[in-house]
Amino acid sequence: MLKKKDTLIAPSLLASNFLETGSEVQMINDSAADWLHLDVMDGRFVPNISFGIPVIRDIHRVAQKPLDVHLMIVEPDQYAEAFKQAGADHLTVHYEACTHLHRSLQLIRSLGMKAGVAINPHTPVLLLQDIIEDADIVLVMSVNPGFGGQSFIPRTYEKLRQLRRMIDDRGLDTLIEVDGGVTMENAGEIVAAGADVLVAGNTVFSAPDPREVIGKLKGEKAN
Ligand code: DX5
Ligand code: ZN
Repeated sequence: MLKKKDTLIAPSLLASNFLETGSEVQMINDSAADWLHLDVMDGRFVPNISFGIPVIRDIHRVAQKPLDVHLMIVEPDQYAEAFKQAGADHLTVHYEACTHLHRSLQLIRSLGMKAGVAINPHTPVLLLQDIIEDADIVLVMSVNPGFGGQSFIPRTYEKLRQLRRMIDDRGLDTLIEVDGGVTMENAGEIVAAGADVLVAGNTVFSAPDPREVIGKLKGEKAN
């Protein structure tokens, strides 16, 4: 692998203190973070409900980093335009939630956002063969979506290697994002397996000095 670029860091606001959203976003603004990861859950695709469009609209007013919106919802096409208007820069939909994934990704791009496809832990990387060219980001779930603070599933490393090969073999610049259970201990191995972007919720927000943790995660480089 020739890649020797900086690892991108996307702190997940889900693990923040929602009574202090303004100052949590300000902390991200003042940090080395590259994106702000926002987890939208509908209680149908995943067994949890988080926050939605009005909250993202308000976050957009103060956030200085690109908003990386991860939709864990059914029928995401219905809301793509509303998320764009709320300020989303990247919109990631789940492979498992899209009957017409090609159409969903085209719609997201046509609205001027980067289009992401997320795969659950049980979904093989091979299934992306006919859609990878249409995605700017592939988000590999390394836990079952729905909750922060879970443990990283080790099988993810092999999936990352397979995906890295698929992307490099085709000469694409699709970014590989890893979401769930990223810690200071496993970040290096995740990047070495091929990840470009690390999402980190609890590792960042439960740290005594979140900005320091973001800086350290960013220091993880591929070989
Ligand atoms: C889980 C979400 C994640 C979550 C990650 O469904 O997609 O983005 O916030 O949280 P941690 O880093 O704590 O596992
Ligand atoms: Zn997420």
